[in-house]
Amino acid sequence: MKNYQDLDPDRLPKHVGIIMDGNGRWAKKRGLPRTMGHREGMKTLKEIVKLSAAWGIDVVSVYAFSTENWKRPLEEVNFLMKLMIEVMQKELRELHEAGVKVNILGDLSPLPDATRKAIEDGLELTKDNKKMVLNIAFNYGGRQEIIQAVKTVVEEGMPSDEITEEKLSSLMYTKDMPDLDLVIRTSGEMRISNFMLWQIAYAELYVTDVLWPDFRETEYAKAIKDYQHRGRRFGGI
Ligand code: FPP
Repeated sequence: MKNYQDLDPDRLPKHVGIIMDGNGRWAKKRGLPRTMGHREGMKTLKEIVKLSAAWGIDVVSVYAFSTENWKRPLEEVNFLMKLMIEVMQKELRELHEAGVKVNILGDLSPLPDATRKAIEDGLELTKDNKKMVLNIAFNYGGRQEIIQAVKTVVEEGMPSDEITEEKLSSLMYTKDMPDLDLVIRTSGEMRISNFMLWQIAYAELYVTDVLWPDFRETEYAKAIKDYQHRGRRFGGI
């Protein structure tokens, strides 16, 4: 962990969100099928999560499968569903040992049974871990998350003067977690793509041209250092 020493431990983001983009382009550049980009991206994900835990970041949220990703070719969708099983059954062991608790943002009900079962087992395995939380956004959409919170408000017949930011926050998948401090997007696109719209309100944004499979320790430390030099005002002066 060569870049650890340069980071200010008192100014770490509590919650980092990552839009892991560029797997397909990474594979194409090498004449490989897109799925190989996702496989390499899984290795990057594991490294970034382990670094985050070691550095003392409390929560990392990653965008692994959006509600729009069902539109991709069936072969790629099936690959990602199987890759999720692999993450839960194989890769999770190491993260579990590092004290990482896994949580899912999104609706698991439409997933293939084997994928849903593997996720449920992974959640159970890591549920008591305290070092760090890894939120995997899977079949996730930011607007859908807000809609389901509003539906709960209506179903509970809540009086309008009781509808506060705190109340709505408590109805999001991230209840009890801090809002995002930093959002990283790899591969250069300047978009939010329906990622954690509620929690992103005051987040600092960091976009890099580096493709997700190449976003390793040096690049991650660079993003955190950049964040540590920002002056956050939350609307004040
Ligand atoms: C976006 O890149 C990436 C995804 C939709 C999948 C992200 C998955 C991983 C990083 C692997 C970890 C997997 C799980 C299941 C946790 P893209 O395919 O849109 O890349 P492109 O824009 O270059 O085509």
